[in-house]
Amino acid sequence: MQKNIIIFGSSRRNGNTGGLADLIASELDCEVVDIAALNISPYDYQHKNRDDDFIPLIEKIVEYDNLIFASPVYWYTMSAQMKIFFDRISDLLSIEKDLGRKLKGKNAFLIYTASEEVVPRSFIEAFENSFNYLQMRFVKSLLVFENDFDSSKEKIDSFLTSVKGV
Ligand SMILES: Cc1cc2nc3c(=O)[nH]c(=O)nc-3n(C[C@H](O)[C@H](O)[C@H](O)COP(=O)(O)O)c2cc1C
Repeated sequence: MQKNIIIFGSSRRNGNTGGLADLIASELDCEVVDIAALNISPYDYQHKNRDDDFIPLIEKIVEYDNLIFASPVYWYTMSAQMKIFFDRISDLLSIEKDLGRKLKGKNAFLIYTASEEVVPRSFIEAFENSFNYLQMRFVKSLLVFENDFDSSKEKIDSFLTSVKGV
């Protein structure tokens, strides 16, 4: 049985993206890790922040098969909380290479919320390119528009089928 975890970054825990993350978590019976609730500071070239919560978080998530990233669209890209997480992955290319290699081959999923009908390619591409670089497998994404949860049941079910099917 595949192990799932949701890595969630938003400016509010109980907003639209948090609601979507909780819905998916309840269906998959998995944990939602809130990046904003952890002490993770922006990337530092001198790695003076190496003892904050980032490395323990990675040590935790490499134990899972399916990594489900959850972010709102903020200004055409991912939330600042999620961006800090991805910036810190650069630590894994320098001071924690062995740990970083453990991300290779993981299944990556993306769940996100937005207000505008046309979601910019820049949002998806930031994730897609990062997953490719890390040699993770980007399996599927799910977009739910704010306040549109009720009419999104079909695509939510299809997403869940895809996660359960890998
Ligand atoms: C700072 C900020 C920037 C946003 N930028 C965009 C955007 O570029 N495109 C879009 O479709 N929605 C944008 N939105 C709307 C949010 O994506 C949408 O309301 C989302 O569901 C909020 O999720 P949250 O409750 O987790 O913050 C923005 C909202 C905020 C607060």
